[in-house]
Amino acid sequence: MNDEHLIVQEVAPRDGLQIEPTWVETTDKVALIEALSRAGFSRIEAGSFVSPRAIPALRDGDEVFRSFKRTAGVIYVALVPNLKGAQRALAAGADELNLVLSASQTHNLANMGMRPEQSLAAFGDIVRLAQGTTLSLNGSIATTFGCPFEGAISEDRVIALVDAYLELGLHGVTLADTTGMANPRQVRGLVSRVLQRVPASALTLHFHNTRGLGLANVLAAYEVGARRFDAALGGLGGCPFAPGASGNICTEDLVNLCEEMGIATGIDLPHLLTLSRQLPALLGHEVPGQVAKAGRNCDLHPPPESFHKADSNSRV
Ligand code: COA
Ligand code: ZN
Repeated sequence: MNDEHLIVQEVAPRDGLQIEPTWVETTDKVALIEALSRAGFSRIEAGSFVSPRAIPALRDGDEVFRSFKRTAGVIYVALVPNLKGAQRALAAGADELNLVLSASQTHNLANMGMRPEQSLAAFGDIVRLAQGTTLSLNGSIATTFGCPFEGAISEDRVIALVDAYLELGLHGVTLADTTGMANPRQVRGLVSRVLQRVPASALTLHFHNTRGLGLANVLAAYEVGARRFDAALGGLGGCPFAPGASGNICTEDLVNLCEEMGIATGIDLPHLLTLSRQLPALLGHEVPGQVAKAGRNCDLHPPPESFHKADSNSRV
């Protein structure tokens, strides 16, 4: 991997499906994860191990993780909120746990039923559980760039949580913009600060496109050195416990941006477009992604029929 390479972690099977009102069969989830595994991702968040009452759409996480065929070189990540989730994920064969708390007190209470400090205490138990295993641990900070209940979140609050994660010995950190409140200037400032503590290889940005700024925020983070980004096929996604939440940045739109700008991702865009175009049939609604509708720049169209006539007339 060279310094310019951008790593995309696909999160549609987790963030994407967690908010879907229609039940997606376990076999369909497994098929989606296996198809995504063939697209060139090095990391896929394949589900979560949370309370089935909180997120009924992902209540089959154990069976999903036990069922999909693994592709060599892909790290399969599971989101967990507490020790019970970590135990389930470990038993089901997850490679990495994504531990989540919110910078905002109110969102943590709404999403996790506890205060952020209680989440952190639970993560200490998970670190002890992971000792002596090959599990890698990532810590996410939801509502990093703003909270739909509390509004602005101070940079110092986020930095304190990053430091708490590093003290716990977590291997990676994700800054998550849960309801798309970030702007590029804010992203540049905070990401620059966090990169003084966490190497680019261990920092992930998780943007939602709720206010249309998702890809602008990616570029702002990339330009100050961030290299890892979460994205969801079709632009699915959202947290059911955050009012107004909507989709993640769209994977194929991000990969298209990278291809047009000459930034390598290792991801097979035509394969992704095929998968994205199957989502409406699976979910029963249109999805937000744009490139799957418009096609790539290089997907050219034949000129209008009248051009041929004009052309042949001009030759007589
Ligand atoms: N997996 C499955 N069941 C779990 C669980 C887990 N990780 N954690 C708790 N439970 C079960 C408990 O066993 C208990 O079951 P019982 O009623 O049958 O005895 C029940 O849930 C309540 O347990 P409690 O510890 O009191 O949890 P809670 O109801 O306060 O919920 C969370 C706390 C963290 C489990 C819940 O808020 C949650 O899962 N949040 C995640 C939300 C989410 O995924 N958001 C989007 C991603 S950021
Ligand atoms: Zn999200």
